Amino acid sequence: MSKGTFYITTPIYYPSDKLHIGHTYCTVATDAMARYKRMQGYDVMFLTGTDEHGQKIEEKAKAAGVTPQEFVDNIIEGKGGILDLWKLMNISYDRFIRTTDDYHVAAIQRIFKAMYDKGDIYKGAYKGLYCTPCESFWTESQLVDGKCPDCGREVRYAEEEAYFFRASKYADRVRELLRSGFLEPASRVNEMINNFIDCEGGLQDLCVSRTTFTWGVPVDFDPGHVVYVWLDALFNYTTALGFQNDKYNDYEKYWPADVHFVGKEIVRFHAIYWPAFLMSMEMPLPKKVYGHGWLNFHGMKMSKSIGNVVDPVILADRYGVDALRYFLLRDFPFGSDGNFTNELLISRINTDLANDLGNLVSRTVAMVIKYFGGTLPEERTADPMDDELISMAGALRDKYEAQMEKYAFQNALTEVFRVSSRANKYIDETTPWVLAKDEALKPRLAAVMYNLLETIRICAVLLKPFMPETSAKIAAQLNAGDGLMTWESAAAFGELPKTASVTKGDAIFPRIDMAKELEALAGAVKTSE
Ligand code: ME8
Ligand code: MG
Repeated sequence: MSKGTFYITTPIYYPSDKLHIGHTYCTVATDAMARYKRMQGYDVMFLTGTDEHGQKIEEKAKAAGVTPQEFVDNIIEGKGGILDLWKLMNISYDRFIRTTDDYHVAAIQRIFKAMYDKGDIYKGAYKGLYCTPCESFWTESQLVDGKCPDCGREVRYAEEEAYFFRASKYADRVRELLRSGFLEPASRVNEMINNFIDCEGGLQDLCVSRTTFTWGVPVDFDPGHVVYVWLDALFNYTTALGFQNDKYNDYEKYWPADVHFVGKEIVRFHAIYWPAFLMSMEMPLPKKVYGHGWLNFHGMKMSKSIGNVVDPVILADRYGVDALRYFLLRDFPFGSDGNFTNELLISRINTDLANDLGNLVSRTVAMVIKYFGGTLPEERTADPMDDELISMAGALRDKYEAQMEKYAFQNALTEVFRVSSRANKYIDETTPWVLAKDEALKPRLAAVMYNLLETIRICAVLLKPFMPETSAKIAAQLNAGDGLMTWESAAAFGELPKTASVTKGDAIFPRIDMAKELEALAGAVKTSE
């Protein structure tokens, strides 16, 4: 039975270069949230895609000697392209939008015209500074050290006839929206209000057309103008559902979005202009925008143009997709910046996945086989020594849920691993190898094994959104069918049948030799200057 709908989006990525681990981070987070909501019984729509227009793409294509369409097609659909990366990373998106798709282009033309007819878009002249990589206009006072405040690169003077969006008209409503909890983390709210709304001159009208290049959605009533790439891009969240087009028909069902996940440098577009555009169109506003932090590398945002990128494919090939997914969401608090290093990655895999979870699963399964031939007897003896583990495992789902609802992936995972470490400690406390020596203690030994298996099962259910393949591998070793791997089944301790059985499997995460791997990675994944 569906609990209702849940619509979640990633930003649509610029197909200007191969994607790196920073893009992967955001997409994996969105995927984990989508899988979690599906597990809970929501009818989920998970949208991702590509933002294909704009001067940056046009210039890159020219440099590569191909048409812009050929250029983006290759980065998206070519070997090792964006679609391949999402397949590798096990991204369970429901829909993929490309802003060059005909239905989107036609819808953007209708939307632009509707805003123009309303008087919210008007013709004027643009004079000012432009950052091409960010596709952003800036005023002198917004620059930082004379450079783009978003990316720190050079801006250039631009002057042209252009259409403007009357953002100023919506300043009060946007300020009120920002104060209502629309934007998370809350720490980003004041920055938005102070820098863009309550700044000198107030919220500026936004330039929404360009005439100096052609790779964009043409303004159909004024040849020579193309729609500013951000207006084109933001509306993807609604055109992908069928807004102003016939390609899809689920706008009524899923809009407004439950949450847009976006990187902190594009919070401004999502928390100020996007709601203002929607207000102009008299459309419902998304329920939330979550601005996550950056994966940095030596204190600088990882970015292709800076040249400090880490390739997720190399890491996923060496350590497995699940290990990489886990690391990204476990090591860095979602709302803050994090510093990527190979050492962190490997030590996280060793500590949590090999030593803690992996060890727990392999020791337990091996003991059930050794002491009981793989199937527990029905007769068992409880002991007060079991209480803490049982109550922790029984309470885990609620704790995890409270964190997931706040998008606190790191804390949700910490809760799960607190229980799995507790289970390892329980093995040391109950000393099954001693119990096994005495036939009369077999019922006691059976109880210990059951408690371990059940704890592992609950952890494996809750790890499903993060490590879907690993979760399935653990379920197979526990002979836990789909019915025992559901959200509902993780609510309480004691769902495994009394005569639970196991099947031996490979170690889920072999331990990694840190020194050797760091050396091997030094060539492949640059993490020092
Ligand atoms: O901004 N760490 O596309 P984009 C964390 N097309 N996140 C990172 C990152 C890093 N090192 N590098 C990039 C765009 N990202 C627009 C979006 S939405 C209507 C249009 C994140 O390909 C970045 O913060 O430049 C952003 O959220 C996303 O990747 C896409 O970046
Ligand atoms: Mg960007």
